Amino acid sequence: MSGFERRNGELFVESVSCQSLAQQYGTPLFVYSRAAIEQSWKAFDAALGDRPHLVCYAMKANSNIALLQVLAGLGSGFDIVSGGELKRVEAAGGDLKKVVFSGVGKTRDEMAMALEAGILCFNVESMDEIGELAEVAAAHGVIAPVSVRVNPDVDAKTHPYISTGLKDNKFGIAFDDAQNAYRRIADSASLNVIGMDCHIGSQLTDIAPYQDALSRLLALCDLLESQDIVLKHLDLGGGQGIRYKDEETLNLDAWAAAMFQEIGDRNYEIIVEPGRSIVGNAGALLTSVNAIKPGEHKNFAIVDAAMNDLIRPALYSAWQEIVPVVESSEPQKLYDVVGPVCESADFLGKERELAIEKNDLLAILSAGAYSFCMSSNYNSRPRAAEVMVDGDTAHLIRQRESLESLYASESLIAS
Ligand code: LLP
Repeated sequence: MSGFERRNGELFVESVSCQSLAQQYGTPLFVYSRAAIEQSWKAFDAALGDRPHLVCYAMKANSNIALLQVLAGLGSGFDIVSGGELKRVEAAGGDLKKVVFSGVGKTRDEMAMALEAGILCFNVESMDEIGELAEVAAAHGVIAPVSVRVNPDVDAKTHPYISTGLKDNKFGIAFDDAQNAYRRIADSASLNVIGMDCHIGSQLTDIAPYQDALSRLLALCDLLESQDIVLKHLDLGGGQGIRYKDEETLNLDAWAAAMFQEIGDRNYEIIVEPGRSIVGNAGALLTSVNAIKPGEHKNFAIVDAAMNDLIRPALYSAWQEIVPVVESSEPQKLYDVVGPVCESADFLGKERELAIEKNDLLAILSAGAYSFCMSSNYNSRPRAAEVMVDGDTAHLIRQRESLESLYASESLIAS
């Protein structure tokens, strides 16, 4: 379920017409379905069944505080990667004791903030980080709970930019060094070993890489246990793919069953860190056609959203479906859907069959994850507004930026 469906040729999000949202709030506009977000989170929770577990939403996928508030209301934990994300969890009323802190370059200030907040766990990614965390915790007179992010060196078979579990990736502690890392943590008076984690990549559509990674991790867990280093939890990361076009996605129940089969009767609490699969399909970017430019080889539909609003097509050659908000019976033509930014990489979709005219509205689907949160002000373009729809009610959850706000924190030099 995405929360988006067509009724009498018109696109709706839950019970609200996308056209009316565009009229009320302007474009470009991100719209999300609360019901779809809740349903995806509950599907994860249900797949993990009776085994003790915690779903920690990887909030880098979409960190709007209203969205975090909705997930916190379901009992979600959060996977964070910065002090800024920790602040957002706090602002949203999330439970800080359900926060796991991932990331390859945590600063001392961020470590201190997270220790003061009393988070569940630090997922450490290097020997240097272990040393620094031990020092910061000692200086604060506390003991930091730690999991080692192990890089299992498995090929997740996804786009190279979003593959993270190979030994040439910067992420995690190399499998062969992990035992030493645990020994170092166990020997430190200000660190407490509580878990092991991995995250091998994003937009995965196959269970096999998860199985490969988990079986390597479990061998390590068993070895540690024989050395009296006992773990409480196993964090399997995120990465579950969604359907953008025609991908065969993972069946979550089958995925969980496969994970449980590997784990057998070992008694770990399970943590997962899904991001994209919770919010990806639950959002769309609405945009207006500003101009139609017929060309010799192809036509351009120049829209008011651009690569600064949605960078995935430019950055990863990602394909996202583009549909008219109101269907037309006119004949279709072939378009490149492009934005106003001065870059040839500024496209949202290439070679799309569309029946459109100037001023029509388009929806770019599956734009709930890694879309708004990766947006920028390039070309001095204010970032878009965001709306969350709940049944027949639309909540404005982020105002469109004003032009003045673009330079509000800059200053002129004394002349
Ligand atoms: N845990 C860790 C440690 C991660 O680095 C990530 C994502 C996740 C969990 C969540 O992964 P997910 O379930 O969302 O696949 N911007 C890219 C995706 C980057 C993913 C980065 N890490 C995109 O737009 O495709």
